[in-house]
Amino acid sequence: MQILTTAAGLQAYTEQARQAGKRVGLVPTMGALHAGHIQLVQAARADCNEVIATIFVNPTQFNNADDFRLYPRVPEADAALLEPAGCTALFVPSVEEMYPRPTVLRFDFGALEQVMEGAHRPGHFNGVATVVSKLFHLARPHRAYFGQKDWQQVAVVRQLVADLSFDLEIVACPTIREADGLAMSSRNRRLDAPARAVAPLLYQVLSAAAAQVRQGVRPAQVQADALATLAQEPSITSEYVEIADAQTLQPLAEYAPGRAVVLCLAAHLGGVRLIDNVVVDG
Ligand code: PAF
Repeated sequence: MQILTTAAGLQAYTEQARQAGKRVGLVPTMGALHAGHIQLVQAARADCNEVIATIFVNPTQFNNADDFRLYPRVPEADAALLEPAGCTALFVPSVEEMYPRPTVLRFDFGALEQVMEGAHRPGHFNGVATVVSKLFHLARPHRAYFGQKDWQQVAVVRQLVADLSFDLEIVACPTIREADGLAMSSRNRRLDAPARAVAPLLYQVLSAAAAQVRQGVRPAQVQADALATLAQEPSITSEYVEIADAQTLQPLAEYAPGRAVVLCLAAHLGGVRLIDNVVVDG
């Protein structure tokens, strides 16, 4: 596995691969890799000859300085996981390499980012769109792989690709869960034992809410019940629970026939902010 640290190095590497007729898959990450990331690499490996993973804790997408500072960083362990999974190159730039000067361009995804993560983390999707655009320009992949745990991020990145005519395909891979249902996340490493013990409640609440959606219980009731269940656990502070259209991400007052529904939540436990979602087909 080739280690690349400069933008020019990444450009040259992928240009050469393209010239050789290879298909290039890109797996953007912020490191602290888990089985969800490895699934993305394996999916890329199944489709592409070159699989480039990127590890960059992107400062511009954090609206909370502590969250950025405490984001887990385990570069050696990450590198050891990537090669056996089929990664052919790893791009690990410095902040100065990715941002040689402050960016002034601002992205506005309209209604898509006025809800959930966009509403609760101002500037988050601007930072995501900035870094993802840079990575797409530098690597020029045929395909880029993202996890569905970040459902809204996938929607925003698809919009970015469509609006800016990036010549690539976005592949979204299912959320990978621990045996007790907790969605895998790099932030799970920061959970202490008591927080880890209650964390599966998030998925339990989403699963119960999804069952209510399937039974036709009105969205406002589903939301209220989910929030009430979370409120019973004193160590969890819920930030939001939304029952939304899976494509537009707009909160639903009623279900529309044939439209998939996404149930999303964000909650704090033990000083760690976690998100999760479940999709109910239309
Ligand atoms: O999902 C993530 O890990 C990040 O938001 C991404 C896509 C790598 C951009 O920094």
